[in-house]
Amino acid sequence: MSSKEQLYVKKIRNGTVIDHIEPGHALDVLHILGINSKGGQVVSAVMNVESKRYRRKDIVKIDDRELNPQEVDKIALIALKATINIVREYEVTSKKRVQLPQTIRGIIRCNNPSCVVNAREPVTSELKVEVPEPLRIRCHYCGRIMGKDDVLKQF
Ligand code: CTP
Ligand code: ZN
Repeated sequence: MSSKEQLYVKKIRNGTVIDHIEPGHALDVLHILGINSKGGQVVSAVMNVESKRYRRKDIVKIDDRELNPQEVDKIALIALKATINIVREYEVTSKKRVQLPQTIRGIIRCNNPSCVVNAREPVTSELKVEVPEPLRIRCHYCGRIMGKDDVLKQF
């Protein structure tokens, strides 16, 4: 970690650091995790800092919390290069890059109102990732193409 970054926000003792978030998406990550000003959690967000690996990045640190797989999949949709670091007693005990599955089931709806997944007795949505970056996903049922903005509207 660069000393520059240390100036922005201190290390956490226990919790999760979501690092290498595409710049501009820290608040979307907080939104995905259901974190807002009312929850009382200890959270820090760093935006547009210099990164060794990529030009700029956002970082989100959440004390005393780990993420569930569905939350990680959602983050992968909007921040493909993000790493999820689990911190225990100040040490990073696990570091995983998010992975975008080829098929996304159940997490996002097709935005075509007449698609079968939006019917009264809905089937589980299924979207195929055609292009990861910039995100392009296609509904398995009706062929509707959606992008990152369409996904963000649902989070
Ligand atoms: N971090 C933290 N608190 C800790 C340990 C780490 O907030 N107790 C943060 C660091 O600031 C960094 C991220 O967790 O943003 C990953 O930490 P580390 O693996 O030590 O950093 P790097 O080696 O720079 O990670 P990478 O190789 O993934 O860029
Ligand atoms: Zn559809």
